[in-house]
Amino acid sequence: MRVLFTGGSGKAGKHVVAYLAAAGHRVLNFDRVGLGHPGVHDLLGDITDAGQVYSAMRTHAGYDEMENPAGAQLFDAVVHFAAVPRHGMMPDTETYRVNVMGTYNVLEAALKMGIRKVIIASSETTYGVCFSDGIVDPKVLPLEEDYDIDPMDSYGMSKKVNEVTARSFQRRFGADVYALRIGNVIEPHEYATVFPPLATDPGQRRRITFSYIDARDLGQIVDLCLKNDGLGFQVFNAVNDTNSVPQPNSELLPRFFPNVPLSRPVSEEESLLSNRKIREVLGFKEAHNWRKYVR
Ligand SMILES: NC(=O)c1ccc[n+]([C@@H]2O[C@H](COP(=O)([O-])OP(=O)(O)OC[C@H]3O[C@@H](n4cnc5c(N)ncnc54)[C@H](O)[C@@H]3O)[C@@H](O)[C@H]2O)c1
Repeated sequence: MRVLFTGGSGKAGKHVVAYLAAAGHRVLNFDRVGLGHPGVHDLLGDITDAGQVYSAMRTHAGYDEMENPAGAQLFDAVVHFAAVPRHGMMPDTETYRVNVMGTYNVLEAALKMGIRKVIIASSETTYGVCFSDGIVDPKVLPLEEDYDIDPMDSYGMSKKVNEVTARSFQRRFGADVYALRIGNVIEPHEYATVFPPLATDPGQRRRITFSYIDARDLGQIVDLCLKNDGLGFQVFNAVNDTNSVPQPNSELLPRFFPNVPLSRPVSEEESLLSNRKIREVLGFKEAHNWRKYVR
């Protein structure tokens, strides 16, 4: 497929773009800064400028496409990752403005121009634990997609609003719009530094309910979203199969979530941010469990 990818120069995007390109997709990276990935053209622009976003939807994905006498074609799909990616990086007002208006622009431009598949990056922080003030319990575990998400921070709020916007646009245009509640993204080089301390200090990852997503496995999830058509509006948790800490759930749950009810039994290593839906609906099979890279 020809894919317009926003935010492909970032931490998650660069691995997902590489995965999609290796899987045979033609990718154009729309970002404020270039990525420089072989075979992937960089189109520099700003998602908060609606004119630029509309313009990008029908663009050459590289200079070679200028050989086509029919001119620049509409993309088959849009993957939207560009954002202020966490709380506390920019003032709250700016985080909200960039994320909410940027995503509105991408959804409106893609769907009004006739693109039939849009995948947006939402976040695990919508569950309202990660960036909340104080030690906050989830209402229930494991976290699944039908949870009544209620973040209190402006980043999580922006991602919740984006899911609402995505659902409304899907209802109006009938295309496929999938929102990925992405977990904490781990790049290959981070296994050596992030994981070893967790053996003695798992509490570091309580706010993300101990989950993670390998950046390459996130690429597989996005590819599966491109391949699975006809699902309408969908929300998918995008995480690996297991928790990111070595302690079993029979130890983690009484220690860190003693007052949180379980909606169903969980196995000892199963991620408390559940990825059951991507496995059952999309056919996700993780390739990069952290135990392959950390003793
Ligand atoms: N990294 C994580 O752990 C994590 C977890 C959950 C969700 N997410 C979401 O995944 C997506 C990617 O996150 P990331 O960690 O790669 O972030 P990142 O900051 O590394 O990358 C974001 C990219 O978006 C670009 N960008 C930002 N504002 C832009 C604008 N106005 N116009 C054009 N481009 C712009 C940046 O230049 C950057 O290349 C984000 O939507 C983020 O909210 C990330």
